Amino acid sequence: MAAPVEIYEGAVDKGLEGVVACTTGISSIVDATLCFRGYTIEDLAAKSTFEEVTYLLWNDRLPTADELKAFRKELGANQTLAPELVKQLQTLPTKGVHPMAWLRTAVSMLALWDADSQKLDPASQKQIGTRLTAKMGSLVALFDRIRNGKPLIAANPEKSLAWNFLHMVFGKEPDAEIVRMFDVCLILHADHELNCSAFSARVTASSLSDIYSAITSAVGTLKGPLHGGANEQVMLMLKRIGNMEQTVTFIKDALANKEKVMGFGHRVYKNGDPRAKILRKMSEDITKKIGEPHWYQMSAMIDDTVQKEKGLLPNVDFYSATVYYSMGIPIDLYTPIFAVSRISGWMAHIYEQATNNRIYRPRGKWVGKEGLKHP
Ligand code: COA
Repeated sequence: MAAPVEIYEGAVDKGLEGVVACTTGISSIVDATLCFRGYTIEDLAAKSTFEEVTYLLWNDRLPTADELKAFRKELGANQTLAPELVKQLQTLPTKGVHPMAWLRTAVSMLALWDADSQKLDPASQKQIGTRLTAKMGSLVALFDRIRNGKPLIAANPEKSLAWNFLHMVFGKEPDAEIVRMFDVCLILHADHELNCSAFSARVTASSLSDIYSAITSAVGTLKGPLHGGANEQVMLMLKRIGNMEQTVTFIKDALANKEKVMGFGHRVYKNGDPRAKILRKMSEDITKKIGEPHWYQMSAMIDDTVQKEKGLLPNVDFYSATVYYSMGIPIDLYTPIFAVSRISGWMAHIYEQATNNRIYRPRGKWVGKEGLKHP
């Protein structure tokens, strides 16, 4: 019986923990500091907009005022979905369907209405990226309107992506303060180094497949509760707990039963996620603004308990749940909102992969049977 070749004998880094898979200049995480293209997330959350951050991620520099104006105009104009595509999307089932499953299908279908979808040259890639980034919010809002039997609302090309998303979901002019908070949420979720879905997009792109395929892979990857799906689970948990009196006992019991508390822990951050700090403040402010401060207070109690019991800190998904809830956004749209933002990072990773491509093809350590003979 032949012995396995030497390469199979190497150590396995389960989940690729600590493995450096590529070079990147998009976002960096050093201890508890997250930067996009050299700017801290705190700086961008305080002074930038989602459109400007998207330009930054794609171009490695902030735009001039004219460049930003032109980029916003291009994004604004690209939010509209082709009527024929909308007609087809209206035939898809929505009852009992998770919005992320619908979104994954919709992104894949979008390719069929884009004559450039198979093009891989840099200029076409940027155009496709702009189209996809502009349309992601329109798709998520469309899903919500279709499932609720509501008339569709056209995007306003003069307004930001954040304004349009809230307008299309709620069907009325959104509050300016809420629009700004939502825009900051989009900034905070825009990219995060080699996260699971960005890696998935890069892996698909590395085979020289098209952008729509790479983004479809990424949407499917983001859907999981260990990645983007955690924000929705956080709100469901808070609703299940129901009140402050039950909060600490519920969490202690969950931990004693070895259950994971969604919205806590991180593969990379061991001293706290800087995005969670910004969202914690936002959660406190917005729950007060809507007269339901208990959602923040319960979250803060959970935060204290998980830190004391497990030494784990909240990640981006923990406080974003109560922020979106206070905005009135349906709970199952929280993960699709993550995609509305993270598309900007996915595109940056696809562009970066294309400039220095080599197909991803790791090895697996053989632990199966050997030398069997068919009788
Ligand atoms: N609640 C309770 N325990 C947790 C936990 C959580 N949220 N996150 C990690 N742990 C525990 C694990 O059970 C494990 O304990 P053990 O060594 O006693 O078995 C230890 O901490 C290490 O966790 P592990 O799952 O191996 O870490 P990872 O690096 O593979 O995974 C996450 C990182 C983010 C997937 C993980 O922390 C998690 O599942 N968090 C909840 C989901 C979530 O919020 N995801 C969003 C990420 S932005």
